[in-house]
Amino acid sequence: MITEADLVRIKRRFKNYVRQFYTGDKTFDSAIRLKEEHTAMVMTEILDIADAMNITTGERYMAEIVACLHDIGRFEQFNRYRTYADTKSEDHALLGVKILDASDILEGMDAAAKKVIREAVLNHNRAALPEQQDAESIFFLKALRDADKIDILRVVTRYYCGLETDDAIGMGLPDVPTVSDAVVQSVVRGEIVRSEEVKTLNDFKLLQLGWIFDLNYTRSFEKVRERMYIDKIAAALPRTGDVERAIAVVRRHLERNCIVERSDCGCPIP
Ligand SMILES: [Fe+2]
Repeated sequence: MITEADLVRIKRRFKNYVRQFYTGDKTFDSAIRLKEEHTAMVMTEILDIADAMNITTGERYMAEIVACLHDIGRFEQFNRYRTYADTKSEDHALLGVKILDASDILEGMDAAAKKVIREAVLNHNRAALPEQQDAESIFFLKALRDADKIDILRVVTRYYCGLETDDAIGMGLPDVPTVSDAVVQSVVRGEIVRSEEVKTLNDFKLLQLGWIFDLNYTRSFEKVRERMYIDKIAAALPRTGDVERAIAVVRRHLERNCIVERSDCGCPIP
C-alpha cells in the first residue's frame, strides 16, 4: 500500500535531483524548467484522469508518483546532448530507468511498487502499449501515457501559436511548409506516426494529432476536446487535401470517444 509519506518523500527527492541541473545559463535553464513544469502538470492531469475512475487512495498516490518520475531521464538527456529528441540522443525513458536504478530515489518502496514505477517510466513514450501487459502496472501506464500526451499538447500548441518560444519544444526540426507523405498517410489510416518518419515541424504536428488514436480514457478525450487541441494544431498546419483528410479522421475518432455530446460540452465551437 502506497502512502502519502511515500509520495512526499519521492517528490522531495525528485526536486533535489532536478535542482542540480540548473546552471545559471538562461537558455539551458529554460529547457530544464520546461520539463520540471511539464512534470508538475502531468501530475495534475493524471489525478484528473484517475479521479474519473474508482481507485483507492494508495492507487491515487501511485498515479502521482509515476507522473512525478516519468521524465526523470529528460534532465540528464538535455545535460548530455542539449536536445530532447530521442532520435538524436538516446531513449529518455530507458535513461530514466537507469537513473532510478542508480539513485536512492525509490529507496523505501517495496519490490512490487518499484516494478510498477519502472514499467511506467520505461513504456511511457513507446509508440504503443507493450504487448506483454502486467496487470498491476497497466492502469498506471495507460493513465500516465494519456496525462503525458495531454500536457505535451498544451506545451506544443502554445509553441505553434507563439506563446512559448523555447526551441527545445520543436526538437530542432525544420519549419518548412511541407508534410511528409508517409506521415500524413499514417494519420489518414488512423495509425500512430512513427517518430523515425518525422522530418519537419509539420510532421511533428501530425504525429501529435495521431496521439489521439492512442488515448485510453474517456476523460482524456474530453480534455482534448475542451481545450481544442485538434483545432489549434490544425490552425498551424498547411491545409492540403491530405492534411484535411487527416484532421477529419482525428476529429471523428475524438467525437466517437467522448461521452458528452459536443453541443453540451461547453466548447466554443458548435
Ligand atoms: Fe517523456
